[in-house]
Amino acid sequence: MKKILLLGYMGSGKSTIGKILAERLGFDFIDLDAEIEKKQQMSISTMFKTKGEVYFRKQEHLLLHEIIDTRENFILSLGGGTPCYANNHLALQRDDVMSFYLKGSIKTLVERLEKEKEHRPLLNQNSDDTLETFIAKHLFDRSYFYHQAKNIISIDNKSPMEVTQDII
Ligand code: S3P
Repeated sequence: MKKILLLGYMGSGKSTIGKILAERLGFDFIDLDAEIEKKQQMSISTMFKTKGEVYFRKQEHLLLHEIIDTRENFILSLGGGTPCYANNHLALQRDDVMSFYLKGSIKTLVERLEKEKEHRPLLNQNSDDTLETFIAKHLFDRSYFYHQAKNIISIDNKSPMEVTQDII
C-alpha cells in the first residue's frame, strides 16, 4: 500500500512529475487542485475571486484528508500552499505516507514562473514587489512546512524525467 505526496512551491513540477511517476509505478495520479476544481465546479482562480482564499484553503484541507484516508496506491500532487495551512503539514509525516519536497532555488522558480503566471492567483495580486522578491519572501515563510517532508529532492537544472528517477 503506497500513498505518495509530492509538494513544493508553484512551478516546481509537482503535476508533471506526478504524472510520469504514476505511469512508471502503475499508480493512480491525483492532482489536488484539479480535484478541488472538479468538486467545486469552478477554476481555482474563480474560487479565489468569488469565494476567497480562506474558502479555498478549507476545501483543500478537507479533500487532502479525504484522499489520504480513503485511497491507496496513488501519487498525489499537492498545491504549492497545501502543507502550509490548517496543520496539513502533519500529513507529510504520517506512517502510511511517503512525502517528497521538490525543492527549487529562487532562480529556478522565478525562471519558470515568469512564463506561467496566468492561472496562479497568488502571483497576480497587485504588489510593489518584483516576482523575484515575492517568491523569495513567500518561500522563506513556507520553507519550514516544506521541510517537514520525509524526502527532499532538488529540481535545479534537472528535467522532469531526472527528478522522477531521483524519486524512484
Ligand atoms: C497555490 C498554488 C497553486 C494553487 C493555488 C494556491 C499556493 O497550485 O493551489 O493557486 O498557495 O502556492 P500550484 O502549486 O500547482 O500552482
